[in-house]
Amino acid sequence: MYYPEDVIEEVRNSSDIVEVIGEYVQLKKKGNSYFGLCPFHNEKTGSFSVSSDKQMFYCFGCGKGGSVFTFLMEHENYTYPEAIEHLAERAGIVLPKQEMTIEQKQEQDYRAALREMNRTAANYFYKLLKHEHGKRGYDYLRNRGLTDDTIIKFGLGYSDIYKDDLYHYLKKKGYTDYQLRESGLVEINDKGAYDKFWNRVMFPIVDMNGKVIGFGGRVMGDGEPKYLNSKETVLFEKKKNLYGLYQARRSKRSGFILCEGYMDVISMHQAGFDNAVASLGTAYTEEQARLIKRYRDHVYLAYDNDGAGIKAALRAIDICRNVGLSARVISMKPYKDPDEFIKNLGKEEYEKRIDKSVSAVMFELQVLSDKYNLSDPEGKTQFINEAAVKLSLIADKLERETYVEAAAREYSINERALKDKVNKTGAANMVRKQYKEIEESDKKLHQREKEKEKDGGLLQEKLLLTWIANEPSCREQVFKWVSPEDFSEGLTRKIAVLFDKQIKDKGDINPAEIVDSFKDVSVHSEVSAILNAEVYFDGEQENDAGIRNQMKSKAITETVLRVKEAGIDRRMKEIMDMSCSKEEQNTMFLKLMDEQALLKKLYITFGNG
Ligand code: CTP
Ligand code: MN
Repeated sequence: MYYPEDVIEEVRNSSDIVEVIGEYVQLKKKGNSYFGLCPFHNEKTGSFSVSSDKQMFYCFGCGKGGSVFTFLMEHENYTYPEAIEHLAERAGIVLPKQEMTIEQKQEQDYRAALREMNRTAANYFYKLLKHEHGKRGYDYLRNRGLTDDTIIKFGLGYSDIYKDDLYHYLKKKGYTDYQLRESGLVEINDKGAYDKFWNRVMFPIVDMNGKVIGFGGRVMGDGEPKYLNSKETVLFEKKKNLYGLYQARRSKRSGFILCEGYMDVISMHQAGFDNAVASLGTAYTEEQARLIKRYRDHVYLAYDNDGAGIKAALRAIDICRNVGLSARVISMKPYKDPDEFIKNLGKEEYEKRIDKSVSAVMFELQVLSDKYNLSDPEGKTQFINEAAVKLSLIADKLERETYVEAAAREYSINERALKDKVNKTGAANMVRKQYKEIEESDKKLHQREKEKEKDGGLLQEKLLLTWIANEPSCREQVFKWVSPEDFSEGLTRKIAVLFDKQIKDKGDINPAEIVDSFKDVSVHSEVSAILNAEVYFDGEQENDAGIRNQMKSKAITETVLRVKEAGIDRRMKEIMDMSCSKEEQNTMFLKLMDEQALLKKLYITFGNG
């Protein structure tokens, strides 16, 4: 354990989940809960709920859920202690010094050393750039048009021509060979230690807190490879980071401009387009798209104007679509990339290119049209067929029609004819899709039935836990009848034990605390699904409160009864398997039978009912 339970509870109590999540997700009050668009999956209608009473969140769409700590762990990639520390700071609570196990201490030291080595190296590279040893790098950057301010803003540097100067510099600071190798800044083999980067201008890569986690380095002259990047470490996960994001997310400009390279990002920022970002020496990933989606709902793709760039843009469009990010494409013609464009035509022209950017669909059609000779009737027909397929995939009717119109105009196609073709293709798509959906729902149904057989009892237990979480007035009565042993071994019993304990200790339950008591975050969603569910019962639409309470009583009584009966059954079986004397077994049986007989009287009441 990192922090004592009472400290965690203090932090939890001082961190209202609605407020904390409200800083990331726009929430609207609906009934007893708040709703918004789920940040964990792509959706158009809000199925993400946050309960102020329970201090929990749960998404009815993707099933993710948990406490305020879970949210930060999932959303900000924090560890549990980091989430606690973040909220403590936010609430102005001073945390006691941590007591850590040896492994935890080692892990923390390991990360801290990685951070320090990266920071120290960034400083070293930066100083070198300003030193006469770094003149070559400095001149290079200045020749590429960067100002001193820009160099400072991005912390650019230079790695010397020597093979091991950084190694010795860091070694003197006290780092071990093991640590240095882990940092990826140095390669060590039987022949000796070599700096990974030498004779390169250096681009530090920073995380969301502005802390250096790795580097990109561009060779001076024509060496290979042109760009070299730090290897991945626990701090540096390439596919989950974007170059320039730390600076760009505060930009006042709309959307982000997604470029291919470091230099593109930097020259764009220098020209005032401080919303430019780039993926890091790897292809753009869905994780990165989701990262962008946290801050903006649209991107402008500013990829190289060549075969590889166009291919990459098409891929990026698909990725954006998958996460619900809208994408437009900026044309850099006749220049290769944003960096060259800005240098040649300047920022006003670039601003015009942004205004003239084309939507993802129109760009896809453009690329498609380049494949065919449109002045040849056969080529044009093939193009129209393929374009119709593309257009038919646009789900929104109005949007589809707008694009059909635009495409007809752009490529001089008869609008009616194109529309007919799109609709026909669309109908075929629809049939295919419906067929697939039926197949899938059949599969699901089958699976659900199978689970029901197995989990029928378990479902009742979960339902009962939901009732307990939702209905304070019934708790005491319920626990008079059922004990934690009536729940089957596993998650439901653990929750029941915790409920029972909380009621005995504090006279009330605290769902968020129950979530947090499970150290494995993957369990949090499951627990939240149980504690944050809505219970439906016959008669809940009833206007008369008296009748409604009666129906509610009936529903919960039945649930208690089922759980209790299954519990008694199970315990009877257990007794038979026990290795004790017949008399002892008999006494236990009789006790259970008494309990069973008593069940006739079981009735849980609500309100005055
Ligand atoms: N890249 C890489 N490894 C390479 C080449 C490229 O990781 N061997 C990545 C770098 O992030 C680079 C981006 O791909 O910034 C774009 O590459 P490229 O178009 O070749 O470079 P430019 O940005 O045009 O580089 P420069 O202007 O410095 O020549
Ligand atoms: Mn370039």
